[in-house]
Amino acid sequence: MRGKSILLIIGGGIAAYKALELVRRLAERGVGTRAILTQAGAQFVTPLSVSALTGEKTFGDLFSLTDEAQMGHIQLSRSADLVVVAPATADLMAKMAGGLANDLASTALLATNKPVLMAPAMNVRMWESAAVKRNRAVLEKDGVLFVGPNDGEMACGEFGPGRMAEPLEILAAIEQALAVQGPLKGVKALVTAGPTREPVDPVRFLANHSSGRQGYAIAQALASAGAQTTLISGPVGLAPPDGVKLQRVTTAREMLAACEAALPADVMVMAAAVADWRPDIAANSKIKKSTDRVVPLIKLVENPDILASIATGAQRPRLLIGFAAETDDVVANAVAKRARKGVDWIIANDVSGDVMGGERNRVHLISEAGVEDWPEMTKIEVGTRLAARIAEKLGAA
Ligand code: C5P
Repeated sequence: MRGKSILLIIGGGIAAYKALELVRRLAERGVGTRAILTQAGAQFVTPLSVSALTGEKTFGDLFSLTDEAQMGHIQLSRSADLVVVAPATADLMAKMAGGLANDLASTALLATNKPVLMAPAMNVRMWESAAVKRNRAVLEKDGVLFVGPNDGEMACGEFGPGRMAEPLEILAAIEQALAVQGPLKGVKALVTAGPTREPVDPVRFLANHSSGRQGYAIAQALASAGAQTTLISGPVGLAPPDGVKLQRVTTAREMLAACEAALPADVMVMAAAVADWRPDIAANSKIKKSTDRVVPLIKLVENPDILASIATGAQRPRLLIGFAAETDDVVANAVAKRARKGVDWIIANDVSGDVMGGERNRVHLISEAGVEDWPEMTKIEVGTRLAARIAEKLGAA
């Protein structure tokens, strides 16, 4: 969702403080926010604290000449990719359901041509009242999206549905709302990432330096472009990407089973650094150091090649993309690997430096059309560029 923008309407409720946290989280993800603070909202948070976080002027008054001169209310309502109302009070819901336009927030809601996401927050009796139920049904029929409210204890001491969704939940709903408009809308994507761990005994394993960063960035970019994305990840220390279904696995064999279970998919990007071998037997108890200093021998057996088996399987995705992490003859080895594994594209990268675990990557895209050298960029940028290429390819197919 990097580069997108939100118009945030902050209504009057104690949950308004969570809207500040939401703005901060959006900024962390590269999403810009412009805010409208209703008169009631300004009783709970100040325009100054909102502006400090958005880095923009906070709008409040429909009839402010200075506001209108800077940005008219119609333009404001259409300036963003999505309008988010948090907290959405019973009053704001009623105004939007009824088409009222007597302040800046309700006017923007009536005038916007963008999707609207509401995060309601109100007392449980209000939420369950016939009027609010009616308004909600009208809004849903009009295509308004909702996140929450959650069950829980309220600021007023009562218990039940009415608590505003938490900022991270709202963020996930925003991600989804933005994604459904993306170029990969309707596409099912499967991504693998990270290393696999192959147990030697209960406390030891064989693994590699893969951090999972590149695969996570690809999954995030595909989801942001609208793909319904599943990420199958080996053990890594990364936060789950927004809007992605994450499944954690440990060994190569678990990864193969998880991939097969997640198919069919339209596109699969196999970015995991799968262990080529595993110890033939994982000891049930810790292997002890022997007193006569005999070093144990670990016999290795070959792991299944996930990519190759999916390439020849009945559920082969329309676009199958593998990685080639090489330390020598990067491009030549990758070209050969593309043919050998029967995949459509190979992303080749030289891992002799600190690519594994680092933030940046320099890759070559090897396809039916030949070899494309991409300049060095961040792994996030590689993900975004790859998602765009995937959208082009699937769109053209
Ligand atoms: O043959 P090599 O390991 O270099 O191939 C790399 C590509 O194959 C990567 O996309 C990797 O995820 C995938 N792979 C696999 N199963 C293995 C080994 C590699 O799917 N056992």
